[in-house]
Amino acid sequence: MADYQNENPLTVGLEKTLHPQPCSLVIFGGSGDLSRRKLLPALYNLAFDGLLPTGFAAIGFARSEMADHEFRAFAAEGVQKFSRRRYEATHWQDFERSLFYRTASFEDPKSYAELKAALEAIESQRATLGNRVFYLAIPPTMIGLCVKQLQAAGLIYPAKQTDRFSRIVVEKPLGRDLETARKLNDELGEVFDESQIYRIDHYLGKETVQNILVMRFGNSIFEPLWDQKNIDHVQITVAEEEGVGTRAGYYEEAGALRDIVQNHILQLVCMTAMEPPYQMNAEVIRSHKLEVLRCLRPMVDEDFQRYVVRAQYAAGYCRGVEVPGYRNEQGIRPDSTTETYIAMRVFVDNWRWAGVPFYLRTGKRMAKRATEITVQYKTVPRVLFNVDAANPLEPNALSLRIQPDEGISLRISAKLPGPKVRIYPVKMDFRYGSTFGAQASPEAYERLLLEVMAGDATLFMRRDEVEAAWQWISSIQQGWARNPAKWLPEYKAGTWGPVEADRLIESDGRQWRTL
Ligand code: BG6
Repeated sequence: MADYQNENPLTVGLEKTLHPQPCSLVIFGGSGDLSRRKLLPALYNLAFDGLLPTGFAAIGFARSEMADHEFRAFAAEGVQKFSRRRYEATHWQDFERSLFYRTASFEDPKSYAELKAALEAIESQRATLGNRVFYLAIPPTMIGLCVKQLQAAGLIYPAKQTDRFSRIVVEKPLGRDLETARKLNDELGEVFDESQIYRIDHYLGKETVQNILVMRFGNSIFEPLWDQKNIDHVQITVAEEEGVGTRAGYYEEAGALRDIVQNHILQLVCMTAMEPPYQMNAEVIRSHKLEVLRCLRPMVDEDFQRYVVRAQYAAGYCRGVEVPGYRNEQGIRPDSTTETYIAMRVFVDNWRWAGVPFYLRTGKRMAKRATEITVQYKTVPRVLFNVDAANPLEPNALSLRIQPDEGISLRISAKLPGPKVRIYPVKMDFRYGSTFGAQASPEAYERLLLEVMAGDATLFMRRDEVEAAWQWISSIQQGWARNPAKWLPEYKAGTWGPVEADRLIESDGRQWRTL
C-alpha cells in the first residue's frame, strides 16, 4: 500500500473542505427501505468519522406507527447490516440520541403541526439552530402534496432568510417523462427556490465518479487526447447482478431506460464529455453538464432498428443459483414488455465529440456487477508494429472502473520478452483499494448528505439538467411508442445481454469490452 498517509495529502492541489451546518434532517419515508439501507447507515458513518455537525437530529416521518425507541432499534438493525463502519456500542449510543420519529399522515395538516411542534422542541434540545433539511424518500406522486403541506404549516423559511435555512432533497424518479418532470419541478418550485432544492442522483456521490474530473483535469496527459481526433469511441456499462427484487411495482413502470439511463448513465456521459469547468462551483459544473445533454443527438426512426436494443432477462443462473426470468418474477405481468436491458449508440454533437460514438449499456441480471467507462483511442498507423492487417495491434484503452474494484487502468502495447518482436497488450492499473485501503471510500449517501448540510449543490441536479435529460430520453420513448413491441429479445440471466446488442456494436466494426 502506498505511503500516502505519511505524506501530507492536503498539500496536493486544491483542498475543498465541507462545512456541514447544524440542522435537523426530517426523513419523509423514514421507516422505509432507503432509510434503513442507505440514509441511516450513512448518518451513522458520518457520526463515526466525526463529520456530522455538532448540532444534529434526524427525525423519521412516515406512516408506520413507531415511537422514538422503536425507530432507534430500526436504525440499529439497518446500521448493523448495511453500514460501512462497524457497529460499535459507544459510537452508536452517541448517535442514537440524535434519532427521533413522528408518525405521519401525509395528507393531514395535523401531522405537520405535530411535526412542527416536535421540531421546535428537538431544535432546542439538539442545538440545530433552526436549520431544516427535508428529505423526501417517498413516491414522486406524493411530493407536490407534501411540500404544500410543509409550506402551509409554516415549516419552511424563504431562501432569502440568512439566519437559518430550509432545504429539500428529492429522490428519483424525478418524473417519468419530460412532462411529468416539469410538473414535479413546478410543484417544488412553487414552494422552494431552486437554490434550496437538492435532486439526488446517487452516482454523483460515488468517489470514483467524482474522480473522473480529477483524472481529466488534474493530469496533463489525458486532456490533450480527449477528443474526436484521438478517441475512437467510448463505452459505458452499468451492469448489475441483481434482478428486479422486491421492486416489481416501480420497475414495471420504469424499465432500464428510466431507472438507469436517464439519470446515472447520462450523468456519466456528462462527466466524461463535458468541457473543462473554469471553477469547481455548482453552477459552473452543472452548466457544463447541461451543455453535453443539449448536444445529445435525438434518436430518429432509423436509429431504432440498429442502434437501440432493449431486452429482458430470461431464466438462468447467477453465481450458480438458478433464477427466474423477468416475466416470472413476483409482481411482474406475464406479458410485460418492460426492458431490463438496454444498449444504444449515441452521439454528442459538438466540436470535441463530433463523430465519436458513445456505446451505452445497462442491464439487470447480467454476468456480474460492473460499472465502467472506457475511452478507446484510435489505433496507431498501419506501419511498423501494426502492418499485419490480419493481426492488428489492440488500441490503447483507458478504463475508469466506477465499481466494484474501483480504479483506473490503461491498456498499452508492450514487447513480450525474448529475441522476437512480439507485441502484447498489457495493463497499467491503479486500484483504490490497494492504494488507499478498502474502507477509505465513503458511501455515496454519506457524501451527498454532507453536501446538503454544507449547502453545496455541485453533486445534485439542477432543474434544467433534469429536463434536458428527459428531453433527449423522450426521443427514445416516442420512438418506442410509435413501434410498440409485443415481445422483447431475451438474454439468459447471468450473461452479458442479448445477441442483438453484440450486433449493434459489431455492425460498426467494434466490440463490447469483456469486463
Ligand atoms: C438505482 C436503481 O438508482 O440504482 C436501481 O433504481 C439500481 O435499480 C441502483 O439497482 C444501482 O445503484 P448502485 O449504486 O448499486 O450501482
